[in-house]
Amino acid sequence: MTDNSARKLRILTPGLGAVSTTLMAGVMLARKGLGKPVGSLTEYGDIDGVPLTDLVTSLDDIEFGAWDIFDESAYEVAARSGVLSPAHLAAVEDELRAIRPLPGVFDPVWVQALAHADHIKQGDNLMELADQLTADIEAFRAAGERLVMISCMSTEAYLEPTDVHADLASFERGLKNNDPAISPSQVYAYAAIRAGVPYANGAPSLSVDIPALVEMAELHGVPIAGKDFKTGQTLIKTILAPGLKSRRLGIRGWFSTNILGNRDGEVLDHPDNFRSKEVSKLGVLDSLLQPEDNPDLYGDITHEVRINYYPPRGDDKEGWDNIDIFGWLNYPMQIKVDFLCRDSILAAPIVLDLARLMDLANRNGRGGVQDFLGYYFKSPQPTYAGERVEHNLFTQEEILMDAIRKMAAG
Ligand SMILES: NC(=O)c1ccc[n+]([C@@H]2O[C@H](COP(=O)([O-])OP(=O)(O)OC[C@H]3O[C@@H](n4cnc5c(N)ncnc54)[C@H](O)[C@@H]3O)[C@@H](O)[C@H]2O)c1
Repeated sequence: MTDNSARKLRILTPGLGAVSTTLMAGVMLARKGLGKPVGSLTEYGDIDGVPLTDLVTSLDDIEFGAWDIFDESAYEVAARSGVLSPAHLAAVEDELRAIRPLPGVFDPVWVQALAHADHIKQGDNLMELADQLTADIEAFRAAGERLVMISCMSTEAYLEPTDVHADLASFERGLKNNDPAISPSQVYAYAAIRAGVPYANGAPSLSVDIPALVEMAELHGVPIAGKDFKTGQTLIKTILAPGLKSRRLGIRGWFSTNILGNRDGEVLDHPDNFRSKEVSKLGVLDSLLQPEDNPDLYGDITHEVRINYYPPRGDDKEGWDNIDIFGWLNYPMQIKVDFLCRDSILAAPIVLDLARLMDLANRNGRGGVQDFLGYYFKSPQPTYAGERVEHNLFTQEEILMDAIRKMAAG
């Protein structure tokens, strides 16, 4: 078991891609005074005047570890991803080169765009692969650090829960029988929880959002959270929609479209993988606007989300929103939002915050779904099936701060 008094925290990421390497490089640059960790609440926030940095692990005490299905160092990935400038990368090149991914658990049926991957664990069944991940985790733990796992791997094909996901006993049988409905991200989540390592899922894949793994997390007292980092378009949506609702302005339609040219965009170009993202992005408006309680204003909304893979853009995503609203006497108006964002620049501080806060929750003995972290997710994981989850960013921030305040008070 982890020594909670250990000073260092190691952030383990299944997936050594654009987001995770941007996080790593950013932490290294901030430590050297060559960049500021902008966008991180745990760096810039406070509770009743007490800086959150007093409650969480210092940037100086953060280490990294990763798994990936391609054998490239964090430096090679960061250079290829084109998020950070050559000058920034040069300043931390040696540290980034030292981070090499362990072989991943992978099956191309879940991410067909990466079928050519070649850095993959081999085993007779999924339980054997989980055991190999456990051995990796224990090797990391041997250095005496606290551990937390944040999944930054590619979006998996859309998955509806089946019987194998219904309870822990069925899930463990499924791991031994190679059940085709168990995805690689679920094997990572299982291995993490079994080893007492908090697990958060940044991708829209179902992953830990299944009864079997919730049961396991509660049984082992391990924090879990998900899913899908709330970064660009959905962040703006969950800022704007509560404002329009506050003024009781009506909404007839919300059309959201994106162009994106990184590997994430390439994976999401496949309909099975896009479906996971679409489901995650679509849930937001209904929950925010509650059309059943406001039929005149929100009872007849058309909500569409599109993502197009467009290589020239790389990581610099452009997200357009066309919002058809109406006011007094139903007179129509339009709002256009064009967010020229940088995907990984928005996601990196979220991974840092999640890692620190999942660790804080773990040190406070909070097992199971950490609903106070819904602030960070497009599709916050409910604590029980059918629970109405909060999407309003400002309400989410209050819930988050309240939970941190309680943990700080011990
Ligand atoms: N950047 C954002 O704003 C944002 C927002 C929300 C969610 N996300 C999600 O975060 C994830 C990471 O995004 P990214 O831009 O870094 O993508 P990326 O494609 O650059 O990185 C993903 C990495 O995961 C690896 N991978 C795939 N399957 C794996 C497996 N089974 N085991 C280990 N590694 C595996 C890939 O090889 C790749 O290196 C994606 O799922 C994305 O949808 C990103």
